[in-house]
Amino acid sequence: MTLITKNIHRAIEQLKRDELVSIPTETVYGLAGNAYSSMAIKKIFELKQRPFHNPLIVHIKSIDYLNQVASNIPPLALKLAENFWPGPLTLVLKKQSTIPEIVTSGKDTVAIRMPNHPLTLSLLQELDFPLAAPSANPFGSISPTNAKHVFDYFGDELEVILDGGNCEHGIESTIIGFENDQYPILYRYGTITVSEIEDIIGKVKISTSNNSDPIAPGMLSRHYAPQTKTILTDNVYEFIESLENQKIGILSFNNPVSHKNILHQEVLSPSGNLYEATKNLYAAMHRLDKNKLDIIIAERFPDKGLGKTINDKLERASK
Ligand code: TXA
Ligand code: MG
Repeated sequence: MTLITKNIHRAIEQLKRDELVSIPTETVYGLAGNAYSSMAIKKIFELKQRPFHNPLIVHIKSIDYLNQVASNIPPLALKLAENFWPGPLTLVLKKQSTIPEIVTSGKDTVAIRMPNHPLTLSLLQELDFPLAAPSANPFGSISPTNAKHVFDYFGDELEVILDGGNCEHGIESTIIGFENDQYPILYRYGTITVSEIEDIIGKVKISTSNNSDPIAPGMLSRHYAPQTKTILTDNVYEFIESLENQKIGILSFNNPVSHKNILHQEVLSPSGNLYEATKNLYAAMHRLDKNKLDIIIAERFPDKGLGKTINDKLERASK
């Protein structure tokens, strides 16, 4: 039986025993274990069926704790942390020896963020270790944005889910690293846009696709994917006309599409608000995927700000 609870005490017990807990964050739900325990971390990789060469994010309770897990912290990294933490920004920094190699897949860098969810922050305050947590989904599939999504994925195999409601942002954190410990580089589009980052630290290099040596699995060309075949197009009507008698699902920005073969439709923001669309994206993909459709047709978003983030996820979902 899985315990789905708002009470952090069972979660604390579980984590202290090197067991796993799903935690709510403002981005997506995480699958958490003691970041200092190789045994707990091994369980995360096994339950997620995640390849061991894909490193995890370490969640910390405060900016002050950063020195315990990272070293050689570039001034620009500190500036970003001060601006965006607690919040949806992950920094890739030189690791401290306290972090086991299994967390970082043998790399000398570690991904770190301070999440902004009251339940998870109070949980972290009660623990004397940080939490390593990837998104709480089987490798490659859509990230969960509520406790039920997590339960649907893992069922009884996961004993405790901390229920913090629907995620505020609904999409993963933005990941920034530093080339030669100095020059900022974006590894993954996320909730915080490139221009918001550049407003704080100036020009950032973009490096979000690398299939042969994926530094971040979010960089793999197929990721965040529904089971149902998904395509991304600029012209939904034209694409529908090219199909014959298929059960169609639609994922669109602000305008509904009408056609007799459409069985399920998700309009992410009727008022045309990109922030609202981002928040609804994964939950809509989960619902579409449950409808036994032949195909999901996603409409390309305006390619700026959060629209870029959404297009990036939809491109990877449609590979
Ligand atoms: O919003 C989020 O970031 C969520 C919540 C739970 O915090 N977590 C999340 O974790 O999205 P996950 O495992 O799905 O994605 C972690 C990303 C991966 O793309 C991974 O490759 C990258 O972080 N990463 C981890 N360590 C890294 C490193 N040393 N260098 C570059 N990328 C790294
Ligand atoms: Mg993930």
